[in-house]
Amino acid sequence: MESAINFINEKTNNFKPVTGIILGSGLGDFADEFEAIRVPYSDIPGFQKSHVAGHKGLLVFAEVAGKPVVMMQGRYHFYEGHSMQTVTYPVKVMKKLGVQNLIITNAAGLLHKEFEPGDLMLIADHINFMGTNPLIGMNDNDLGPRFPDQSDVFTKTLREKAKAVAKSINLEVKEGVYCALTGPTYETPAEVKMVRNFGADAVGMSTVPEAIVANWCGMNVLGISCLTNFACGVIDQPLSHQEVIETADRIKESFKKYLYELVKAI
Ligand code: HPA
Repeated sequence: MESAINFINEKTNNFKPVTGIILGSGLGDFADEFEAIRVPYSDIPGFQKSHVAGHKGLLVFAEVAGKPVVMMQGRYHFYEGHSMQTVTYPVKVMKKLGVQNLIITNAAGLLHKEFEPGDLMLIADHINFMGTNPLIGMNDNDLGPRFPDQSDVFTKTLREKAKAVAKSINLEVKEGVYCALTGPTYETPAEVKMVRNFGADAVGMSTVPEAIVANWCGMNVLGISCLTNFACGVIDQPLSHQEVIETADRIKESFKKYLYELVKAI
């Protein structure tokens, strides 16, 4: 960790980001729009190589709306076979760099018909259905406590701000519970019914590990899901990755504008 921080400080001339953004599926090019210092994950001590098509694997340091920001262009997924330590290591690095607010974005399946594909959903809470926890193992007491409270993982004050920002740009946002499963399979209709009955509104394969670690080490967390599709069985139609990509692409511009305004406001 220490060598990662030293390496990054040298590359960025001691840039001190206050806000971190994890860019989810289809949103990666948000980071292309700024004059920035781009550091490949593969160069940073402790980062693993990312190997998903369309995921760049860059840590991008830039002024966004006048604020110092670090963006993850590409994330590590548990379903790729990475350990939970690999998946959440970048969050710990961001914490050590001074990040106080972390915005985590993703694409997610919708579990009911009260919302629509293409909606953005602020994550109010999560269900960890990944069968493991990123904090299993020796606890680093310098970063956070052994038994962290999870009553406010997705920081309420930040979410309230995010609602006000959405209103100011006439963007409708929903709010709900995100449930994470490992993937890479999409859920069966029976699994979809189960997690809906457990109180979730959306389902996906990321975000929860990063949110757990960010909350544990004292960051404010904002989670935003792009609801790309009805999950299996909600409507009588099979699901394809293509549909996920197409919806993410359709609302990309308004999502990017929202992100920019959020950074400006927090
Ligand atoms: N299920 C799980 N993950 C997803 C989905 C889904 O329906 N859509 C986008 N990511």
